[in-house]
Amino acid sequence: MHPLPYVYASLPVGIKIQCSRCFRFAGITTTWLQKRGRIRSCHPRDKRIYRLPVFTEKFCQAFIEELENFEQSEMPKGRPNSMNNYGVLLNELGLDEGFITPLREKYLQPLTALLYPDCGGGCLDSHKAFVVKYALREDLDLSSHYDNAEVTLNVSLGKEFTEGSLYFAEFRQEPNAIPKYIEVEHVPFYGLLHQGGQMHGALPIASGERWNLIIWMRSSAIRNQRCPMCNREPELVEAEGFGEGFTRSREHRPPQTVDVCSLH
Ligand SMILES: [Fe+2]
Repeated sequence: MHPLPYVYASLPVGIKIQCSRCFRFAGITTTWLQKRGRIRSCHPRDKRIYRLPVFTEKFCQAFIEELENFEQSEMPKGRPNSMNNYGVLLNELGLDEGFITPLREKYLQPLTALLYPDCGGGCLDSHKAFVVKYALREDLDLSSHYDNAEVTLNVSLGKEFTEGSLYFAEFRQEPNAIPKYIEVEHVPFYGLLHQGGQMHGALPIASGERWNLIIWMRSSAIRNQRCPMCNREPELVEAEGFGEGFTRSREHRPPQTVDVCSLH
């Protein structure tokens, strides 16, 4: 499978134009994008949750087929995260370099720079990408949590399902606050952008099967100051690949995104 041509072809022309313009004209605002229908805010209270078209139906079907082939293979598989039992880590499929990294750099970051300038949206320099699967007799839902990310993209890839909306509360719930949730429906082939620190979860699906691509996008400039998971100055340990997106500057060497925080 060669995913990138599908992504490029599938992004609406408007989004492509906006992306290239975003680079040149920093003055374009979120309202400007919303008025022209390029993105939609998902709630009037403005929790900064946005819906946007990401992939074509054809691409999503091909992608799920590829993931099912991988699932049925004998290849070693890691769990996408501590909360999801079913799914695929995309770096295990070799999809970071040719697919997720250019998607983040060329298409998502121009938007996140406008939507989330205060939480690293303009300098997202690494990610963790995975696909999670919800089905009857497998994972049905996901309890409330926040992500190890500055900005998250969650794309509904299909297949057919009922119920299973996402719900969002406040930014990193205060321990004593009574959470007020809003529900946001998944629209097939569309993505939801939200801040990683916004408390959220997934309601149970009632039938069918749902696959979601999740990209946790990280900004070393933000998290190097304070780890988003333990809320402290990070103590770094070297890791492979992108690690958890922290960097440290070494003398005469450029910063590398290979570190994890050992405190959480
Ligand atoms: Fe999440």
